[in-house]
Amino acid sequence: MTIKDCKIIELPRFLDARGNLSFAEQNNHILFEIKRTYWIYDVPGGEARGGHAFKENQEFIVALSGAFDIVVDDGQQKKTFSLNRSYYGLFVPAGLWREMNNFSTNSVALEFGSKHYDREDYIRDYNTFLNLKSDGKI
Ligand code: TYD
Repeated sequence: MTIKDCKIIELPRFLDARGNLSFAEQNNHILFEIKRTYWIYDVPGGEARGGHAFKENQEFIVALSGAFDIVVDDGQQKKTFSLNRSYYGLFVPAGLWREMNNFSTNSVALEFGSKHYDREDYIRDYNTFLNLKSDGKI
């Protein structure tokens, strides 16, 4: 997988004077079957989250409120995706290093995962990530 496999996906929007509505369906806007949902909130200014890669877990990330950046790295190249609308999501395949930063005040990151939580699926050391990547193991 490379950063070219990351995709911004525009979600449906129902604009309404009563307030807007968007949704996401598995195996449709979200390109996998959802096994887990979690959210990150109350991030203090200047903090970063998610400095790691997954061996198998795929993700779909939405800035439900506010804005933040997701820096994706395939070992050769890095790309920053800025999310600041609740009707866009970023698909991040497995095997990419990613970090989230530049969280605005009161931002909420909603994340969908293709796997249940499994700490063995995490690669938390960047050099280990680079070695696995150059060996073609992830
Ligand atoms: P972690 O994935 O390290 O956060 P991030 O990479 O976004 O900075 O998760 C932080 C803690 O939360 C860690 O101790 C494990 C726990 N956790 C779960 O128990 N289940 C989950 O689904 C997630 C995402 C985290």
